[in-house]
Amino acid sequence: MRPLRGGGEGLEVRLLAAKTLQAIFENQLTLEDALDREPAVAKLEPRDRAFLATLLLTTFRHLGEIRKVVDMHLAKPLPRKAGPANVILWLGAAQLLFLGTPPHAAIDLAVQCARMNTSATHFSGLINAVLRKVSASGTDVLQPLDAPRLNTPDWLWKRWRQGYGEDLARLIAAAHGSEPALDVAVKRDPGEWAGKLGGMPLPGGHVRLAPGHGAISGLPGFAEGAWWVQDAAAGMPVLLFGDLAGKTALDLCAAPGGKTLQMAAAGAEVTAVDISVSRLERLHHNIARTGLAAEVIEGDVLDLGMTQCFDAVLLDAPCSATGTIRRHPELPYLKSDLHLGELVARQRAMLVAASERVIPGGMLVYATCSLEPEEGEEQIGWFLSRHADFELAIPPSTVPPQFVAPEGWLRILPHMAIGDAVGLDGFFAAGMRRRG
Ligand SMILES: C[S@@+](CC[C@H](N)C(=O)[O-])C[C@H]1O[C@@H](n2cnc3c(N)ncnc32)[C@H](O)[C@@H]1O
Repeated sequence: MRPLRGGGEGLEVRLLAAKTLQAIFENQLTLEDALDREPAVAKLEPRDRAFLATLLLTTFRHLGEIRKVVDMHLAKPLPRKAGPANVILWLGAAQLLFLGTPPHAAIDLAVQCARMNTSATHFSGLINAVLRKVSASGTDVLQPLDAPRLNTPDWLWKRWRQGYGEDLARLIAAAHGSEPALDVAVKRDPGEWAGKLGGMPLPGGHVRLAPGHGAISGLPGFAEGAWWVQDAAAGMPVLLFGDLAGKTALDLCAAPGGKTLQMAAAGAEVTAVDISVSRLERLHHNIARTGLAAEVIEGDVLDLGMTQCFDAVLLDAPCSATGTIRRHPELPYLKSDLHLGELVARQRAMLVAASERVIPGGMLVYATCSLEPEEGEEQIGWFLSRHADFELAIPPSTVPPQFVAPEGWLRILPHMAIGDAVGLDGFFAAGMRRRG
């Protein structure tokens, strides 16, 4: 547990936390978007911004447990119109139960927040009383709780239980309770960079940094572009191509460019396409910082207007992103189901468009950072049943075998490990060769 500041200067951050949390629920915003829209956040000192992010991420990661404990001390749930009072209570309880904030600070600042919010003033006494009880009962109250189940909304739990069975659903949900480690993909010499960064080298050329590494831009090698941030699981789809040296590669849906850089570093001549101007800006920055080369095109995969074919085509398709819940714990609370129909249809159209850009004998890799079979296994089943000129390729030996499903595609789940590093983004990836 990380002690947080609790002095008077902490009030502004708590007020912002309550405002942001409420905006996320009311407007179905991602945490990143909600923070971007709040001008006061940009004015915070880095230390306060980090505190705000930790408080919000922790609250979402443990929201089921937090609600359960808060409800134990409420005679009846607060009415819907008590919205701000609810979020102030949850944030206070998150500090008491998971962040080791001194009780007087967590409780007093929650009460001050309530008093300063006209819709919550009325509940300030109740907030005080409930948080005092939460503090008095301590963290032992968490022990008997079924945290993985409580922290997963019903609709998502039902999905994973259907798709993976109860035991795997539980492991997936439990993995979402932990803060993800920082992995970086290294241009060359991962062993050497592991030493310089104080991290652990991982199979596939990544390095996992130890907790408490500090600001990314201040780490050795950042300024000179020796590495870029990429979860070790996100590095796996490109490995399906095998040796890329001297090959032509088309990276569709490329921004912000983790896989573009990976392919360029592996010696491919890369063309990167993405529809988003702002995300392409980040791709350009990443290319410039690392000194790697790629041709960058702003364009729509569904309207490529290109006749050239490539040795290697990657489609890292837009998806529900349920594989990234460790990083974005608010995602389950922004939806009540995934309504994947439209997304699945778009992924299929993109997959067909991508396949048309592969030379005979070349490779197509389809990837999504989703845990949902509709966006992974079922897409490949659908595609291969209609495209007899493609066949699943056996993954090269560089791909860790624990990720390879019996069918030959990759299914990476958040509780899995690579080397000694436990916990990964969830990913699906399939490599298909076009018959020559
Ligand atoms: C999963 S992200 C890609 C991540 C990227 N491959 C990486 O490794 O850094 C999906 C990307 O698809 C892009 N995208 C969505 N629809 C698109 C379309 N019709 N054409 C091109 N890009 C699209 C989004 O802008 C987004 O950058």
